[in-house]
Amino acid sequence: MAIKKVFVIGAGTMGNGIAQVSAQAGYDVMMSDIKDEFVQKGMAAIEKSLDRLVKKETIKESDKSAILARIKTTTDNKDAKDADMVIEAAPEILELKKNIFKQLDDICKPDAILATNTSSLPIGEIAASTKNPKRVIGIHFMNPVPVMKGVEVIPGRQTAADVLEASKEYIRKIGKEPCEARDYAGFIVSRLVDALMNEAFWCVMDGNKPEEVDKAIKLCLNHPMGPLELCDLAGADVVMHGLETMYEEFGERLMPAPLLKNMVRSGDLGRKTGRGFYDYTQK
Ligand SMILES: NC(=O)c1ccc[n+]([C@@H]2O[C@H](COP(=O)([O-])OP(=O)(O)OC[C@H]3O[C@@H](n4cnc5c(N)ncnc54)[C@H](O)[C@@H]3O)[C@@H](O)[C@H]2O)c1
Repeated sequence: MAIKKVFVIGAGTMGNGIAQVSAQAGYDVMMSDIKDEFVQKGMAAIEKSLDRLVKKETIKESDKSAILARIKTTTDNKDAKDADMVIEAAPEILELKKNIFKQLDDICKPDAILATNTSSLPIGEIAASTKNPKRVIGIHFMNPVPVMKGVEVIPGRQTAADVLEASKEYIRKIGKEPCEARDYAGFIVSRLVDALMNEAFWCVMDGNKPEEVDKAIKLCLNHPMGPLELCDLAGADVVMHGLETMYEEFGERLMPAPLLKNMVRSGDLGRKTGRGFYDYTQK
């Protein structure tokens, strides 16, 4: 299963990063979005990111031009017809992703791999929207894509063994390391980080100060960021949505702590509203 042409759906935060790292590794890339202005915005983000690499002397100016020349753009997903691998990075809406995969199933070559970058939606359900679920897989990049070394790879129940192997090979070729996860809500990364954050909310409810909880996790466990700072950064509403999905899948073990619900109801969502576990109005 030789992969040469990678088609990336969505030129947003994740899509443009995926297009960039794929082109950097030598793949012929095509990046799509629904409007040309979104595609151009994605290309501008890639250029800016490559400029940083040139400045740091990680790549040369001539490498930058060669990488950019390997990325083509389109607003028509039918251009995925000769791709060897499609990586979908459209918004996290199950019905939207199922529709895109249904279309891709008709557009793409029969042996093309169809991957989704979903953070938490069921791979099996996305795969079931196609006639050939064997070629559907989850490839979950972390943000920011060019920086983060780990990539979760999630086979669905039907995913073929050679599709899993070819996906791992692609991940290694772009200089990253595949972490194989099972197809349950949140896979490994989102599930564990949500569990850590939820337990941190309970710690605060037990009377621990947020700054002490974050300090303990940073200094005693060597995490770069505390779980409450992370919640403020992601947004309490986003964290709550993730935990509710986990609760549906795993029951009581991952029931959102009452403090989180209280904060969401009060609009204390974190950085984006200026108040969360910390006050951002003065910063
Ligand atoms: N942002 C993150 O930190 C992060 C991390 C890991 C995974 N993810 C996942 O990656 C996916 C994309 O997230 P994002 O943050 O890049 O979103 P985003 O909103 O920045 O970008 C999504 C892009 O997809 C485009 N799009 C929508 N429908 C399309 C279609 N039919 N064809 C082509 N393009 C289409 C949108 O116009 C938009 O530009 C989601 O599933 C998300 O859960 C996000």
